[in-house]
Amino acid sequence: MVNMIYSISYKENIVGNRDTNDLVFNIKEDLQFFKEMTIGTTMIMGRKTFESLPTGGLPKRKHVIVSNKIKTTTDAKEILGGKYIENLTFINLDELEEYIKEESKVTNISIIGGAMLYTHFLEDKNLFDLLSNVYATQVERIPEIENPVKLMGHGDLKERCSFEVIKTGQGKDRLDNNNLVNYKVVRYFKENI
Ligand SMILES: NC(=O)c1ccc[n+]([C@@H]2O[C@H](COP(=O)([O-])OP(=O)(O)OC[C@H]3O[C@@H](n4cnc5c(N)ncnc54)[C@H](OP(=O)(O)O)[C@@H]3O)[C@@H](O)[C@H]2O)c1
Repeated sequence: MVNMIYSISYKENIVGNRDTNDLVFNIKEDLQFFKEMTIGTTMIMGRKTFESLPTGGLPKRKHVIVSNKIKTTTDAKEILGGKYIENLTFINLDELEEYIKEESKVTNISIIGGAMLYTHFLEDKNLFDLLSNVYATQVERIPEIENPVKLMGHGDLKERCSFEVIKTGQGKDRLDNNNLVNYKVVRYFKENI
């Protein structure tokens, strides 16, 4: 199974902060959902998303970085600096499809961002076809940031896929003074899978 997972502002399709490389929501229930979905899986992410993770990476998950700059362990140590961890796998964009085909034979895969990598999956038909589900936490708040990272392809998913709301809730957003925000988790999937 290959799942893509993200949190997104429900109106403007904002997924990140260009200036800080940070997430734009921090809702305990959403982070818990992310943990449940990704634990035990191979997580594939763009280099910048890896750099935005806590130092040491996330426990009980394999980390795979997509980067065209990192080709060797020496490159990885140099580019990632203090964020470098042992047992890191790095692949370039051209290897991605083949990697997923092989890796998904032995384990579940989570595509965890960021916008560049998500966009690639939404635009490249071969990669899109490899996805089993897209889980989008749609948050009813528009982050007030100067340089948002947007995921425009998200808007088309309703036309391209079937979907179901699997959860609705309210949580305190630590990036919005702990104000309560409404969110819903939507699963997008292809009927024939
Ligand atoms: N809302 C969410 O759920 C969520 C999840 C994850 C991340 N984010 C946020 O998203 C932001 C980061 O996203 P981002 O788009 O800037 O970066 P990203 O996709 O995490 O990483 C981009 C880097 O990965 C490689 N890469 C990935 N896809 C590529 C492609 N299609 N073509 C060429 N290179 C590709 C390149 O590495 P090299 O430069 O090394 O070649 C590129 O510079 C942050 O703000 C982060 O917090 C949000």
